[in-house]
Amino acid sequence: MSSVDTSKIPNSLQEHWMPFTSNKDFKENPRLITGAKGVYLTNHKGKTMIDSSSGLFCNPFGHGRKEITEAVAKQLEQLDYCQPFQQGFGGSFELATKIARHTPGNLNRIFYTICGSTAVETAIKISVAYHRAKGDSQRFRFIGRERGYHGMNIGAISVGGMVNNIKTFASILMPGVAHMRHTHLPEHKFISGQPTTGAELADDLERIAANFGGENIAACIVEPIAGSTGTLVPPKGYLKRLRKICDKHGILLIFDEVITGWGRTGSAFASQEFGVTPDIITMAKATTNGVVPMGVVACKEEIYDAVMDASPKGAVELFHGYTYSGIPVAVAAALAVQDIIEKEDIFNRAKEMAPYFQKGLFTLQDIDVVENIRGYGMMGGIDIKMNVKPGKAGFECFKACYEVGVNFKATGDCLIIAPQFICEKKHIDEIIDKLRTGILNYSKNLKN
Ligand SMILES: Cc1ncc(COP(=O)(O)O)c(C=O)c1O
Repeated sequence: MSSVDTSKIPNSLQEHWMPFTSNKDFKENPRLITGAKGVYLTNHKGKTMIDSSSGLFCNPFGHGRKEITEAVAKQLEQLDYCQPFQQGFGGSFELATKIARHTPGNLNRIFYTICGSTAVETAIKISVAYHRAKGDSQRFRFIGRERGYHGMNIGAISVGGMVNNIKTFASILMPGVAHMRHTHLPEHKFISGQPTTGAELADDLERIAANFGGENIAACIVEPIAGSTGTLVPPKGYLKRLRKICDKHGILLIFDEVITGWGRTGSAFASQEFGVTPDIITMAKATTNGVVPMGVVACKEEIYDAVMDASPKGAVELFHGYTYSGIPVAVAAALAVQDIIEKEDIFNRAKEMAPYFQKGLFTLQDIDVVENIRGYGMMGGIDIKMNVKPGKAGFECFKACYEVGVNFKATGDCLIIAPQFICEKKHIDEIIDKLRTGILNYSKNLKN
């Protein structure tokens, strides 16, 4: 008898157009997830798999957390929705206070969005609104970085730097955007932690300012560690140099911490980890442990004050917001996450487990098809040698690993590994062992 649980397979797979998926491949050989608990997932063949990427970096506190489920259920019973424009409810204010306790400097003004992409779009709009409020309406330019990922709306893909996300939509990108070079240099081979070379790449911002006039640039946005393109860790001194150049020209510095936020580096935010305070931080994903969509933009108090002061009393100060900005059910999940962070000392837990994870990750460097490994804190990237065309090796390797029971996300030819913070050493060992088996199986298939 087949071990496939057919009750878990829908009658038709055709109608659902899946996001960021090879739809044709998937529909021939579906991978359906039917359950999740702690660090484990179950698929429709009844196989248990270890989740080595915290979903899409979003469930670091473990799957099926009772505290979150109960908080969400209770909230739904009490107040399922209230409109967020010109009225509110207590929870969103309580959450903003709690978030502001963790953000660096005086990034204490909290705007809610729906996801990471809308957090980035909001940060872009707030930057423009801030400069305009200060009489600097000429500042419309934005600076992103090659190999950056900031989400999928037009603002986010415009400042992002991944060619496949942009090329189809090149004709409708936001105007006035320039990109710095990425920070991954050829000599950055098998480095755990920050590379010591490459800080001078921050001077790209100075060159762009010289070209367009620093006084015309609204903001520079970077991920402190580029996550989606495979854990590109900033060279030592790079982020400090960016901060200095931004200050010199009055350019706002935005850190997109949608991945690095809430403990991934071992500190609450990468900003604290690397000792650089931006003007705006975007976050999403782990804010609710991934179970209810929510994005957050934290701004310096001066930014909020400038926008408030520019409008007369009684007027809407910022014409921006979403139907789902800080809705009760998302707030309930996020408040439960805040409790977990506090009770389980989550950031220290991630910091303590990080060296063990990093050590394990780098044991994979002896495998012939592994071209490079990078890592920081509880995140890492494994580059697999290209096979015929970009992306094929990564996808085939992902499928081989899925078969042996370790799940993650592959981008191009890079395997993105980001274990949950609740992992114990035995879970890290299981992840590394299964990665080894899966990658070796892929490699053997290549030779056959
Ligand atoms: C750094 C970064 N910013 C923004 C986003 C977009 O987030 P979302 O998919 O929630 O819109 C992502 C998603 O992976 C991300 O990694």
